[in-house]
Amino acid sequence: MVQIKVFDTTLRDGEQSPGVNLNQLEKLEIAKQLERFGVDIMEAGFPASSKGDFEAVRTIARTIKNTSVTGLARATKSDIDIAWEALKDAAEPRLHIFLATSPIHMTYKLKKTPEEVIQTAVSMVSYAKQKFTHVEWSAEDASRSDLDFLCTIIEKVIDAGATVINLPDTVGYTTPDDYGQMFRYVRKNVPNIDRVSLSAHCHDDLGMAVSNTIAAIENGATQIEGTINGIGERAGNAAIEEVAVALKIRNDKYDYQTNLVLKEIKRTSDLVSKFTGMMVPPNKAVVGRNAFAHESGIHQDGVLKEASTYEIITPEMVGIKSNNLVLGKHSGRHAFKDKVQQLGYDLSEMKLKEAFEAFKLLTDRKKEVTDDDLFTILIDLQTDS
Ligand code: KIV
Ligand code: ZN
Repeated sequence: MVQIKVFDTTLRDGEQSPGVNLNQLEKLEIAKQLERFGVDIMEAGFPASSKGDFEAVRTIARTIKNTSVTGLARATKSDIDIAWEALKDAAEPRLHIFLATSPIHMTYKLKKTPEEVIQTAVSMVSYAKQKFTHVEWSAEDASRSDLDFLCTIIEKVIDAGATVINLPDTVGYTTPDDYGQMFRYVRKNVPNIDRVSLSAHCHDDLGMAVSNTIAAIENGATQIEGTINGIGERAGNAAIEEVAVALKIRNDKYDYQTNLVLKEIKRTSDLVSKFTGMMVPPNKAVVGRNAFAHESGIHQDGVLKEASTYEIITPEMVGIKSNNLVLGKHSGRHAFKDKVQQLGYDLSEMKLKEAFEAFKLLTDRKKEVTDDDLFTILIDLQTDS
C-alpha cells in the first residue's frame, strides 16, 4: 500500500470562499476536529495577511499536537518571519511558500523574468530553511506553466532545502489526463524528486478537482491538498472526503491509503458547514443529505432486500447513522410497509392497502411525505374503523 499524506487547507484556501470569515474560536474548533479526522497537515491560515489570522494560526499551532500545522507565506522575508512567529510553538511547524511559475503570472502579476523567479524561489526557500525543518514550496499556476521550466525550478528549490513540492491547478483549468501527465513528467525529469513529497492541489472551476487529484495520485503524487466539503476560492477546492472515500471504496483498483478516520467525515462536514455558513448541497457526494436517501420504489425495494444493490458506500463508514428511504410519489408498497412498521404500527393487509392508497393520493399534492403526514393518515384510518 502506498501511503498518501493529506494536507487540509479548509482554514486557509477554504476560508478564502467568498462570504466566509471564521473567527478565532471557530477556527480552533475546526482545527481540533481536523486533528480527530486524522489529517497529516493542516494549513491554519496566512499569518501575514491580518492580525486576526496571525493570532488564529498561533493559537492553533500551540494547541494541536498530533497534526503538523502550517501557514502560508509569499516568497518574501517578512512573510516568512511573521509565519515563523505564528508557527514556532507548533509540535511540528511547517512553512508553505508559493511563487507563480506560469508565463501569464510571471509576466502580468510578478513582472519578473523566469530567471528572476528561480532566483527568488531559491533564495526564499534557503531563508525559510534557517528556521523551518519542513518547507513546502508551491509553483502557483503550475498546470499552466512550461513543463521544462517547472522541472528546472523544482530541482533548484529541492537543492535549496524544500521538503515538499506542490503543483497546484490554481485556476481549475486542467483535466485528469493533463494533470496526471504533469506529475509523470516531473517524476521522470527532476533528478532529485525522490527526496521530497510531491503534492497535488486542485481547484474545481471545471468540476474536475477530485478527478484531477486522483489522476495526480495515480501518476506519482504522495500528498493531496483539499478542503472539507470542497469549499474554497471561487468554485472551491478538491473535497477531501470525496477523495478519501473514493480511494477506500475503489480499493479493488487503487493501492493507496491515508491516515484519515473516515467515521469522522460527517461530523467534520457538519462543523465546517455550520461555522462557515456554507450549506452542503443535498446532492453532494458523500456528505449531502440525499447521498444515502432513496426515493424510487424500485431502489427502496432493492435497498430493503440488500443495501449494496443501490449503495456503494455504507452510511456508517462516513459516520452517518443509517440510510434514509424518502417517501414520495415513486415509493412502493414495500418501503411504505417498512416505514409504517418503523413508526410502530402493525396493520392488517387490508388496512395497509387503505393506508397505502391514502398515501399515494397525498403524493400527488406533496413531494415528500413526512412522518407527521403518515401519522395523520394512520390516525385517520384508526378513527374510521
Ligand atoms: O491554488 C493555489 O495555487 C494556492 C497556492 C497558494 C498554493 O492555493
Ligand atoms: Zn488553492
